[in-house]
Amino acid sequence: SATILAACTFGSASAADLVVGFSQIGSESGWRAAETTLTKQQAQERGIDLKFADAQQKQENQIKALRSFIAQGVNAILLAPVVATGWDEVLQEAKDAEIPVILLDRTVDASDDLYMTAVTSDLVHEGNVAGKWLADTVAGKPCNIVELQGTTGSSPAIDRKKGFEQALSGHDNLKIVRSQTGDFTRTKGKEVMESFLKAEDGGKNICALYAHNDDMAVGAIQAIKEAGLKPGTDILVVSIDAVPDIFQAMAAGEANATVELTPNMAGPAFDALAAFQKDGTKPPKWIQTESKLYTQADDPTKIYEAKKGLGY
Ligand code: AHR
Repeated sequence: SATILAACTFGSASAADLVVGFSQIGSESGWRAAETTLTKQQAQERGIDLKFADAQQKQENQIKALRSFIAQGVNAILLAPVVATGWDEVLQEAKDAEIPVILLDRTVDASDDLYMTAVTSDLVHEGNVAGKWLADTVAGKPCNIVELQGTTGSSPAIDRKKGFEQALSGHDNLKIVRSQTGDFTRTKGKEVMESFLKAEDGGKNICALYAHNDDMAVGAIQAIKEAGLKPGTDILVVSIDAVPDIFQAMAAGEANATVELTPNMAGPAFDALAAFQKDGTKPPKWIQTESKLYTQADDPTKIYEAKKGLGY
């Protein structure tokens, strides 16, 4: 298999000899920027030569980067895949070249023998945690929800929607009345929220916002304020990532809950590579990171202070 063959590639390299290509999605969110910073830091600490390629949100750029890494004969590739489909061919090329690929933070719809491991959270579970929090919080009262989805076709957008909807099933009081992509960015989160507010009687018909990431929530909070409503009170706000800015919003009472996603995906990925390099130990196909819920009760100011500097 690819992993056994790749063990030969790693056989003679020490950590300091390793050249690793990293195809990053872009810089759409605060979380993404932190992941980039931490990956570079982790590589430097381990003496890994990291070749970084920013795909500017385009899968075609990621495929080009992967082909270039393969041509350069890197020892391994980290891939944060912008969308879930369309990877089979290039992953097969990496496998044929005996270069192990590690997926970071998003999954792909491809056979798992085309990559060595995936370091991700349970993306469905994240949506589920957000939905359960909302169901518990509104406690049976009728609640119209608007949803800001992540990038269309990306695994977090698909899975966070699915998990949230699962948590809502059986709660007839909770209804998603509008759902649209905000592409994981602040700007689009604000824009789309403005259109939701207009369409829903200036926001009077909206009880809660579920955003697939904090950045879109932060943009939407601005839109809610500009519409003359109070985010966090008139419209509940729940999102995912736990970036510092959402804790500031929580401290101000303008956001209510977030589900944490660690930006340090590279640490576990490099650990897996090191073990594999040492004696061919194959990591599990999924290295799962934690998903923790934070609310206003968790001292958001303290968490904001603690998080600043941790890659953010
Ligand atoms: O894949 C992880 C998601 O991508 C993060 O939740 C979001 O902020 C980022 O853009």
